[in-house]
Amino acid sequence: MKLLITGGAGFIGSNFVLYMLEQHPNYQIINVDALTYAGNLENLKAIESHPNHTFVKADITDAKMMNELICQGVDVVVNFAAESHVDRSILEPDVFVKTNVMGTQVLLDAAKKYGVTKFVQVSTDEVYGSLGETGLFTERSPLAPNSPYSASKAGGDLLVRAYHETFGLPVNITRCSNNYGPYQFPEKLIPLMISRALNNESLPVYGDGLNIRDWLYVEDHCSAIDLVIHHGQLGEVYNIGGNNERTNVHIVKTILNELGKPESLITYVEDRLGHDRRYGIDPAKITSELGWKPQHNFETGIKETIRWYLSNKEWWTRIQSGAYRDYMTQQYGSR
Ligand code: NAD
Ligand code: DAU
Repeated sequence: MKLLITGGAGFIGSNFVLYMLEQHPNYQIINVDALTYAGNLENLKAIESHPNHTFVKADITDAKMMNELICQGVDVVVNFAAESHVDRSILEPDVFVKTNVMGTQVLLDAAKKYGVTKFVQVSTDEVYGSLGETGLFTERSPLAPNSPYSASKAGGDLLVRAYHETFGLPVNITRCSNNYGPYQFPEKLIPLMISRALNNESLPVYGDGLNIRDWLYVEDHCSAIDLVIHHGQLGEVYNIGGNNERTNVHIVKTILNELGKPESLITYVEDRLGHDRRYGIDPAKITSELGWKPQHNFETGIKETIRWYLSNKEWWTRIQSGAYRDYMTQQYGSR
């Protein structure tokens, strides 16, 4: 099988490329990534000279390039490439629309033109908006995105659906909850708090810290997508989540406790605009139809993740520079 994986130098994409080459060493992978601030070839060091992995630096909005790549006998497209950070989408929504909506449309056109056997759109639970104190997101929950990021992901998802309905393109959409694990860019909650705590810097918790996210170890997300590629019913959406709802402040305190740092580092700061209160995924469909089960429980997964950041300090200190530093100053000022 020949796969075109987009965004394969980012957090989940790079974990997925490594996972797939481990699980299916004979598959050929074309990994296309624009190497934005979030893309990092260091994530792929272990497979630098793997004969079945080809890296191409390109933008998914570049139709000529996407056609040139997909026409090379690609069977399956897995679209991870995206602008992924909610806070950045509040500062700069246009690039989110460009990559997450227009880039998806470019890929869909190329996939249609060259007749791929499947197009997998990697999406997010954030397209469903926010939950109250009870209930879970199912595949039938209405789309109600609240941030420019989630609205742009919902736009991409709707195009994928439309290409299936209108042109019969064989597609699946996956919607996963918050991922954590190795190679996550240190702008996202868990790696941000680990790196700041290690530097004895204040930990900026938004609002009252009681917003809830449903955490999944990145490898469990990868195994779910692998199953969807091989067994997902065409045209179907699959929610992915491991029933690990935690408040943000619980996560931050767990990190501080694990690192032996004082809770006095926590600083409650102004809330994120449009901040979704709670996400929670009902994974019943992927569990019953495809037999997916997460292998990592949160309590051990978070400890492993903290250990990874401790042992890979060079990885995250190197990227805390340049464009990243400018963004952090804009977002967090001198805190
Ligand atoms: P990330 O920001 O770490 O990585 C995104 C990658 O896409 C980067 O390597 C970047 O260089 C690349 N990219 C961005 N714009 C591009 C473009 N125009 N052309 C080509 N490449 C481009 O993101 P992530 O956390 O790994 O998320 C990957 C996907 O999974 C996204 O589609 C995101 O919406 C989705 N998702 C993420 C989570 C999560 O918790 N991180 C949960 C559910 C779904
Ligand atoms: O639910 C899936 C989504 O999870 C993905 O689609 C997104 O790509 C991914 O970025 C993530 O979005 P969140 O907004 O949930 O993740 P983030 O790590 O930015 O924030 C997690 C929670 O922590 C959220 O409630 C905001 C809060 N937070 C975040 C940061 C960066 C803080 O309190 N302080 C912070 O400094």
